[in-house]
Amino acid sequence: MFTIITGAQFGDEGKGKIVDMMASHYDIIARFQGGDNAGHTVVAEGKIYKLHLIPSGVLFDARLLIGPGTVMNPGILMEELAMLSENGVGVPPSKLGIDAKTSIIMPYHIALDRLRESKRTVKIGTTSRGIGYAYIDKVGRDEIQMADIADKNRFLKRLDEIAPQKEAAIKELGGDPMIARSEIDDYINIGVKLRPYITDVSREINLALKQGKKVLAEGAQGTHLDIIHGTQKFVTSSSTVAGSACASLGVGPTKVSNVIGVIKAYITRVGEGPLPTEQKNDTGEHLRDKGGEFGTTTGRPRRCGWFDVPLALKSTNLNGYTSMALTKLDVLTGLDTLKLCLGYELEGKRLDYPPEHSDEIARCKPVYVELPGWHEDISDTESFSALPENARLYVEMLEKLIGVGIEYVSIGPGRKQTFMK
Ligand code: IMP
Repeated sequence: MFTIITGAQFGDEGKGKIVDMMASHYDIIARFQGGDNAGHTVVAEGKIYKLHLIPSGVLFDARLLIGPGTVMNPGILMEELAMLSENGVGVPPSKLGIDAKTSIIMPYHIALDRLRESKRTVKIGTTSRGIGYAYIDKVGRDEIQMADIADKNRFLKRLDEIAPQKEAAIKELGGDPMIARSEIDDYINIGVKLRPYITDVSREINLALKQGKKVLAEGAQGTHLDIIHGTQKFVTSSSTVAGSACASLGVGPTKVSNVIGVIKAYITRVGEGPLPTEQKNDTGEHLRDKGGEFGTTTGRPRRCGWFDVPLALKSTNLNGYTSMALTKLDVLTGLDTLKLCLGYELEGKRLDYPPEHSDEIARCKPVYVELPGWHEDISDTESFSALPENARLYVEMLEKLIGVGIEYVSIGPGRKQTFMK
C-alpha cells in the first residue's frame, strides 16, 4: 500500500498531526520534497515536537526516509536528532535512512537566498533557509549530495569546482564571498556521522511494497506553493503535489493506492502572494489567535482568511485526492457567522476556479455564502454526530463543494482530538 499525503492549501494545514496519527499503521514514512523550510508540529503525551526535516512519524516504529528530492541542511538535521535524543527518542540508522542523492544545503545557498530576497522589489517572503538556491544547483547540476559530504575528498573536489562561482555570485549581491567556503569542517564532520544513514530510498520503498508493506509519503508545504502549478512567483522551489512523490521517491504511479489531502477549515498563508479571502480584521485575529497561526519555522504571523472553495477544487485536480482530512475545525468556534468563498468576481466576470496568473488571483473579489456558526466547545468531541448541528452543516457543505469525502476531522492539536467522519 502506497499512500501520499499533501497539503491542499498554502502549507501549515496540519499534515504533521495527520501523519503522526496514521504513522502506527505504516511501515515506512518518507519525505519527498522541500527542506527545513517546512515545520511540522507534533503534540504527543504533553510534549511538543517541532520538526523540520525528520518525517513526522518519528514517534512510532516506522522506518523513516528522506528522499533524494529533498534539500537538506545537515546541521539542522543534527539539531533535530539531538533534540529527539534529549527527549528519549533515539533515531539510529536502522530507523532513519537518507538517500545518497539528497541535495545538501550549503551556507552559500542561505547567503544567496537572503541577499537575493533583500534585493527584490517585490518580495517572496522566503523562509531564508536557502531552499531556492539549493534547488537551483540541483537543476544546474552543481549540487552537493549527501554522498559527497560523507566522502571528504569528493566533497573538497566538488567544492573547488563550485566555490569560485558562488564567491562571484555572493560578491555581486553585495555579500561576503568568504561564505562560499565556510563551515567546511562542520560539513565533513557531520558527513562522517551521517554516513551510516545513507540509503537508496527508491530501492527500499519498492522492495517494501513488493513485500506487502505500507508506505506513507509525506508532503511538505502545500499545493498552491508548488513550483509549477502554484501562485508563482510566491511559491517554494519544489513540486508539492502528489505526483511529485512518485517522481521524487522513485516509485511508479501504478503503485499509488490513495492520496489524502490535508485541508484547514479556513485558510492561511505565510509570506507574500495572493490570498483572496484574507481577513485583515477581527475575524483574521480570531483565526490567528485561536489557531496559533504563527510559522513553525520562522515564527512569522500567518495571514488568515475564510475557506476558499475554488482553490480547494484546484487542489483536488492537481493531487487527485481520494479523501481529505479537515483540520482545526475547533478554531471556528465562537464566530457568529461563517463565510465560505464559492467563487470570485474578476473584471465583471464570475469565476468558480482560480485564474492562472497570480496578478489575476490578487485582483479576485471573493463571492461568499454565509453559514451560521456555533459557540459550543467542540475540542473533546469524539464523533461527527456529537458535533453541534452548525458544525456538521459546515463540514457537509465543504465535502459537497469539494466533491471529495472528508475522512478525518481534527478538532485540536492533541493526538486524541481527531475522529473519522
Ligand atoms: P522558501 O520555500 O523558503 O523558498 O519560501 C517560499 C515561500 O514558501 C514563502 O512564501 C514561504 O513562506 C513559503 N513556505 C515555505 N515553506 C513553507 C511551509 O512549510 N509552510 C508554509 N509556507 C511555506
